[in-house]
Amino acid sequence: MSPKTKIAPCVKPGLPRGVALLHDPMLNKGSAFTALERDALGISGLLPPEIFTMEEQETRVLENYQRKQTNLDRYIHLTGLQDRNTTLFYRVLIDHLEEMMPVIYTPTVGEACQKFGHIFRRPRGLYASYNDRGHVAEILGNWPQADVRVIVVTDGERILGLGDQGASGMGIPVGKLSLYTACAGIHPSQCLPVTLDVGTENAAYREDPLYMGLRQRRVRGEDYYAFVAEFIEAATERWPKALVQFEDFGNTTAFHLLERWRNEICTFNDDIQGTAAVTLAGLLSALRLTGKPLLDQRILFLGAGEAGIGIGELIATAIAGAGATPEEARRRCWFVDSKGLVVKSRSDLASHKVRFAHDFAQIPDLLGAIQALKPTAIIGVSTVAKAFNQEIVETMSRLNERPIIFALSNPTSKAECSAEEAYTWSRGNAIFASGSPFEPVTYQGKTFVPGQGNNAYIFPGVGLGVVATEARYVTDRMFSAAAAALAEITSRGDLEMGRVFPSLKRIREVSARIGAAVAEVAFSDGLARVEEPDDVFGLVQSKMWIPRYTDYLI
Ligand code: NAI
Repeated sequence: MSPKTKIAPCVKPGLPRGVALLHDPMLNKGSAFTALERDALGISGLLPPEIFTMEEQETRVLENYQRKQTNLDRYIHLTGLQDRNTTLFYRVLIDHLEEMMPVIYTPTVGEACQKFGHIFRRPRGLYASYNDRGHVAEILGNWPQADVRVIVVTDGERILGLGDQGASGMGIPVGKLSLYTACAGIHPSQCLPVTLDVGTENAAYREDPLYMGLRQRRVRGEDYYAFVAEFIEAATERWPKALVQFEDFGNTTAFHLLERWRNEICTFNDDIQGTAAVTLAGLLSALRLTGKPLLDQRILFLGAGEAGIGIGELIATAIAGAGATPEEARRRCWFVDSKGLVVKSRSDLASHKVRFAHDFAQIPDLLGAIQALKPTAIIGVSTVAKAFNQEIVETMSRLNERPIIFALSNPTSKAECSAEEAYTWSRGNAIFASGSPFEPVTYQGKTFVPGQGNNAYIFPGVGLGVVATEARYVTDRMFSAAAAALAEITSRGDLEMGRVFPSLKRIREVSARIGAAVAEVAFSDGLARVEEPDDVFGLVQSKMWIPRYTDYLI
């Protein structure tokens, strides 16, 4: 053997070589490929010579990240990393989740959707347009992954509180699935973001030369539902173990689709059920601060859409669980919508509101409803910025020693009030939570850390429990169990700071514990398609992917 002859190390089978390897984001390690791997995989010379550890790569990513001037630029930067090196993207995201969640998800993702056609770099996810009807199965056949376990699908009609974004809404399923992976360790290759493009009512988009979806008004009615059904049937045929999460549909279609499919396939709607669970958890935590029982609560919602009605249903179930009759429990939840208090005598109520239309006088506005009903908590899910004004917060503070004020509308610009307003106007007595994040507030020497009623506390853990057990359906009992687990994890220390949720730093632990609570329900209710192990928590944890580079040599 001449001194120059090298013995080529063996590489794991099935790996692409050369540039193809560097261009595969799931396999690419960038400058972290070892010298032996570079030789064996035909990439020597295609990378700068120095070899870096993942930690060093992370430092470089962060340096670039911090140099960006706006959150939208940070979003584009992180998306670029996700497109190049998925493992490093998730390492960075998990290590800096609290800082980066508002960038990859609400509120920045809302801006990213609004500018989607203008900042577009590379496609991500799958688009089925109405023009593909009759051929959706073929479209799904083009997706390269055989073992999809979580599908997040939107039709873009009601993106956050921003209204109809049409095909530009794709940012939402993409962002949500990033959170499934970062928070609960669902493997990225098992996640599929989908946009059903049926047109848009957003005339500005239809006229924008860079808009990337169908330039027509929305398909409605039977044709619309038939198209969604075609997608669901094709998706569950190809990926029978997949959980299908509905996301940001308009409120009429969202309720209809959930009712149509929830007992047929493994599905849930995060805007309805996920929001409900996180809000119930926040309420249960708040009651640890007020010391008052759930049975004595009277909750007034501003907004009777998906979020509001979903929360009302779950809270009513919880109140009934605490000893009230179902009717009494529902009478503890009241709604004000754009026309005033939701009451029986109104003739203009959409069907999803009717269950909460009580016998009571018509009252045209929120302040009047607060004065008449004397609620212990007000929950804003209306998309109406500043609707909780000084008079509202002061009135709530006169009625309650510790008023519970949740301003959940997203993004930040739509919040019913800010954290600072809630604490200042209530003289530091409000128990406040919001949908989008707010900075800590110091009032009269005390610093309050507002809790963010972020659905990311719930849906990744629920998804993990469902994936681990291959559950047939997603049930309300699973969401109640998830809410109870989340409230239990919130520590005394969190509560003392004013925060009704645990720190997002603990999100992997939170998701694992919620996953286990959901898995327990799946096993006890006979919904699991895998054998029940002795250690359910261990099963759930074993399904959590950790972003680490693997060695490509044998
Ligand atoms: P939706 O469109 O289904 O419902 C909005 C409701 O607000 C409708 O009932 C509408 O009648 C009502 N509304 C509109 N103008 C009003 C006014 N002037 N006064 C009273 N009510 C009015 O929307 P959805 O899904 O219920 O979401 C509402 C908000 O909640 C959004 O901003 C969304 O981002 C936010 N949200 C927050 C979550 C969280 O914090 N975890 C989760 C889900 C939604």
